Amino acid sequence: MNEAIVVQNADNNNIQTGGFTRGHNVIAVASGKGGVGKTWFSISLAHALSKQGKKVLLFDGDLGLANVDVQLGLMPKRDLNDVIRGRLSLDKVVQRYDEGGFDIVAGRSGQASLSALPTQRLLMLRDQLMDLSHEYDSVVIDLGAGVDRTVRMMAASATRTMLVATDEPTSLTDAYAFIKLGSAAGMSRNISIVVNQAQNVIEGEKTYKTLLKACENFLRLSPPMAGMVRHDPKVKDCIRNQTPLLIRSPNCEAASDIEKIARYVDETLKKAAAA
Ligand SMILES: Nc1ncnc2c1ncn2[C@@H]1O[C@H](COP(=O)(O)OP(=O)(O)OP(=O)(O)O)[C@@H](O)[C@H]1O
Ligand SMILES: [Mg+2]
Repeated sequence: MNEAIVVQNADNNNIQTGGFTRGHNVIAVASGKGGVGKTWFSISLAHALSKQGKKVLLFDGDLGLANVDVQLGLMPKRDLNDVIRGRLSLDKVVQRYDEGGFDIVAGRSGQASLSALPTQRLLMLRDQLMDLSHEYDSVVIDLGAGVDRTVRMMAASATRTMLVATDEPTSLTDAYAFIKLGSAAGMSRNISIVVNQAQNVIEGEKTYKTLLKACENFLRLSPPMAGMVRHDPKVKDCIRNQTPLLIRSPNCEAASDIEKIARYVDETLKKAAAA
């Protein structure tokens, strides 16, 4: 990857997110490029954390293109649209996902009012989510692809952002762009990299190192690696069957990778709480 401009001050905390406090237990899942596995990863991470004894909330933050409910085969009776329209407060749209042992706030797909929320509404939603986060050990936010205003705002409130990338050059370039653009939202130092769909451990390390080198050379940042998830046909199989991987194929490679990353996340949140 080439980068002509070296960013001198990569972490400008003066951001357009309004006065906010970073959540103490909030994990945002982002990517530059779409379709790299964020939603599947978010669900599986929430599930793994819950299996490790944590009280977890999974928030579908892909406003307007929500699909946590689709991947899990749920038909939510209440969702974020009710919150945005002022019909219900955020805590009232939380639903229990018994099979996974965690709670979910579902979004709604194809709702223009959600994808183009005015900033003020977005800030209110984020503040409500931060309030709700106190009732949980961890909150996982599945974000939309890209680095738009909604993504930046949500990621900036997270304790840590898991940036999902694959070895595809476009995914790597977009992940790099996310880190670069994210620096203006004060979140660069809170990003960890997740390499998804790695062919094997060596290839996964290589993918991470490629991204790391670009960040070090041009942004003077060294985002740590949260872990990697190997490419595993069981992932597609579980999505097709609308069943979480950790239920359908709990012993497959991707499942053990996710459980390892959940332990990293737990450690990271503990360190952040102690800091
Ligand atoms: N570790 C993996 N092994 C094999 N296939 C995977 C893996 N992770 C993701 N996939 C495949 O990638 C597809 C896209 O996953 P997902 O919908 O979670 O991506 P996304 O990043 O949320 O997409 P979008 O940007 O559209 O929201 C899945 O349908 C699945 O087939
Ligand atoms: Mg998604």
